[in-house]
Amino acid sequence: MRILLFLSLWLTLILYIPGGESVLPLVINTWAFQSATETAWKVLEQGGSSLDAVEKGCAQCEIDQCDGSVGYGGSPDEMGETTLDAMIMDGNTMNVGAVADLRRIKNAIGVARAVLDYSKHTFLVGESASLFAESMGFLHEDLTTVKSRSIYLNWLNQNCQPNYWRNVVPDASKSCGPYKPVKGFKEWKNLHTENKVNLHSHDTIGMIAVDEAGNVATGTSTNGATHKIPGRVGDSPIAGAGSYADSTTGGAAATGNGDLMMRFLPSYQAVEYMRLGMEPSKACEKTISRIQKHFPAFFGAVICANNSGSYGAACSKAPGFTQFHFTVLKKGISRPQNEVVNCI
Ligand SMILES: *[C@@H]1O[C@H](CO)[C@@H](O)[C@H](O)[C@H]1NC(C)=O
Repeated sequence: MRILLFLSLWLTLILYIPGGESVLPLVINTWAFQSATETAWKVLEQGGSSLDAVEKGCAQCEIDQCDGSVGYGGSPDEMGETTLDAMIMDGNTMNVGAVADLRRIKNAIGVARAVLDYSKHTFLVGESASLFAESMGFLHEDLTTVKSRSIYLNWLNQNCQPNYWRNVVPDASKSCGPYKPVKGFKEWKNLHTENKVNLHSHDTIGMIAVDEAGNVATGTSTNGATHKIPGRVGDSPIAGAGSYADSTTGGAAATGNGDLMMRFLPSYQAVEYMRLGMEPSKACEKTISRIQKHFPAFFGAVICANNSGSYGAACSKAPGFTQFHFTVLKKGISRPQNEVVNCI
């Protein structure tokens, strides 16, 4: 009797898995972008692949203009134009399609999927990516809206503040360009400081889908950083940075200060930690703390899921950012579930 009790106690302990139960299928994405989660889920429910789920899920955000940070009409650059970055990765074949600085095409992740499906390339950029998209049948449209126009005009009226220049004349913290480089400047200004985070100027949808059989796919879509210097590409469309998928292990996706984060390939790093046996939330935390060694208060978050459906997330505490919201839909729950993690 005593032995039985002891055994059942042990079984309870063993069956309790911290960091999210392993349940498949699973869709998880950054922020509270629930309609994207739901759209991806429907694809899986109807027997679609995790790759299709991620594409349709992120495309939903492009249609909804999630927080103004995904799709058309958000984050105008210094010329007032909205440009899009996206990627999609198939964790079975390690096939990737990506586009960056995409202009006048709304469905960026659709174009990324076309790069994956219809070319032997991985990454197309700029005007040429738009030409590719048009040849693949995507509609050519103006991405500017009344709202993005007014964000741009306000910025011009505020002497182009904030912006992404440094060590230039005239002083970029006071005036608009055009700027010239300061020759022989003594130190890089603002190398380690994060501006107070305007959460809506950096968001990105990053999504991981794992189907019933454990096939992993990931994707991202974003319109980048508001008032970016034209041509700027963030972490989102870069494999291993914005997201990474490997069906033998799991997937990860990142959001936040992409200019910094892309230097650390956080999504690749998180998947590698899981490959070494780390549970997903721990893998996410380790990834964040590794970047913090160099940039202690950087703004960013990572979501992680392994191929058995266990998941987690972690974020880096920055001015104005102490908690990170993400969304989960998995077998056994009927609605997208908003989850929160405290930043480290
Ligand atoms: C996924 O993570 C959970 C929780 O840490 C763990 O129990 C499970 O074994 C992991 N799955 C794989 C395939 O590593």
